[in-house]
Amino acid sequence: MVRLEWENKEKISENLENLINNSEYKFEKIKDPLGIRISESLNQGKNSDSWRNKLFWDDNLSVLCYLLKKNIGQIDLIYIDPPFFSGSDYIIKIEDSKGSSDSLAYKDRWSNNFDAYLQMLYERLFLIKQLLSNRGLLFVHLDWHASHYVKTILDELFENRFVNNIVWYYYNKYSSGKKILPRAHDDILVYSKSDNYTFNEIREPRKRPRKQLKRTNVNGVLKNAKDKNGKVIYRVVKDKKIDDVWKIPCMQPASKEWTGYPTQKHHELLERIVKLGSNEGDLIADFFCGSGTTLLAAEKLNRRWIGCDNNKYSIHIILKRLDTFQKDLNAHPYDLFTRMTQEKKEVLKTGFFAEEILIKSKK
Ligand SMILES: C[S@@+](CC[C@H](N)C(=O)[O-])C[C@H]1O[C@@H](n2cnc3c(N)ncnc32)[C@H](O)[C@@H]1O
Repeated sequence: MVRLEWENKEKISENLENLINNSEYKFEKIKDPLGIRISESLNQGKNSDSWRNKLFWDDNLSVLCYLLKKNIGQIDLIYIDPPFFSGSDYIIKIEDSKGSSDSLAYKDRWSNNFDAYLQMLYERLFLIKQLLSNRGLLFVHLDWHASHYVKTILDELFENRFVNNIVWYYYNKYSSGKKILPRAHDDILVYSKSDNYTFNEIREPRKRPRKQLKRTNVNGVLKNAKDKNGKVIYRVVKDKKIDDVWKIPCMQPASKEWTGYPTQKHHELLERIVKLGSNEGDLIADFFCGSGTTLLAAEKLNRRWIGCDNNKYSIHIILKRLDTFQKDLNAHPYDLFTRMTQEKKEVLKTGFFAEEILIKSKK
C-alpha cells in the first residue's frame, strides 16, 4: 500500500492513544449562553429520550479525546470541512454596540508548513475513525490544495474503504487566473468503516423524461419484461439516481441563510449529505462546524448532533441560528461545553453570546 510520509509523522502519531488515555479533559457546561428564556424553551424540545445535542467551543483535538474517553457513543455520520491549506486568513467585519471592527475568524496560513497541516489533519482523522460507528460514513470536504494528499491518508487510515469522491460544482463563484481554467469545484471524500454503511438512494428529476425498457426479476436475474404478445414493455422515467457531481451554488450574501461567516457551505449541500448517509434519530457530528450548517441540517432532518469549533464567532452564529430555528420549528435541546480559561471567562462576562452583532465576511 502507498503511504504518505512527512516529517515527524510516526513520532507524533505514536502518542495519540496515550493522549486519549492519560489526559483529563475538563469540559464544563455553559449555562444559558443566550439567556434563560431560550434555555427553558429548548429544554422542552421534542426529544423524548435523555440525549441532548452537544456544541463544543474548543479545539477539536481535545473534544475528540474527551468523547472517546467518555465513551459518548458511536457516531453515524461525520462531516468535516477543515481549513484547506488555502494560504489565507479569514477576516470578518463585526458591527456591535461599540461600533465596527475587524476580527480574525480563523487562520489557514500554516506559515507555509504543509507537514504541520497534514499532521493536524492526520491526528484528527485517526481519532474520528474511532468515533465512527460500524455503519457510519465520513465525509471530508477539501479542495485542490490538499485533497489528493488527504485521500492517501484516508486510504491508509480506512484501509482503502473509499466510497466516493463527490465533486461539489459551484457554478456561481467567480474565480480568476491567467493561465488556469477557473476553479469551480471542491472535493468531498467519503469513507466507510465496513461494507454495512447507511446509504440512502437520492433521486433527482431528469431534464427530459426518458423511455426505458421495463426490467423484471426472474429467479434473481434481471430480464426485459414482456406483454402477453411477447413484446418488450417500455416505461417513462422522469427521475434518476444522483451521481457524484453535485451542482449546488455557493452561498450568496443575498440568501436568507447567509450568516456572514467565511466559507459557510450551502444548506442544500449538507442536507443532501445528511439524507444520503443517515436516518432519522442517527447521531451526526461536525468537528469544524463554522457557522453550523451541518448542525442545522441535522436538526431540520431530525437527527441528533455534536458540533465543535474553537472560534467564538462561530459559536455566536450557531447559537443565534439555533434560536431562530427554535422559534420556527421547535429544535431539540442542546448544551454548550468548553474547557474554561481566563480568556473565555472574559468573553462570557461581557454577555458576548447574548449580544446582537452583525458579522460580515471580508474575504
Ligand atoms: C471551513 S470552516 C467551516 C465552515 C462550515 N462548514 C460552515 O458551513 O460554516 C472551518 C472551521 O474550522 C474551525 N477550526 C479550525 N481549526 C480548528 C480546531 N483545531 N478545532 C476546532 N475548530 C477548528 C475554524 O474556526 C472554522 O470555523
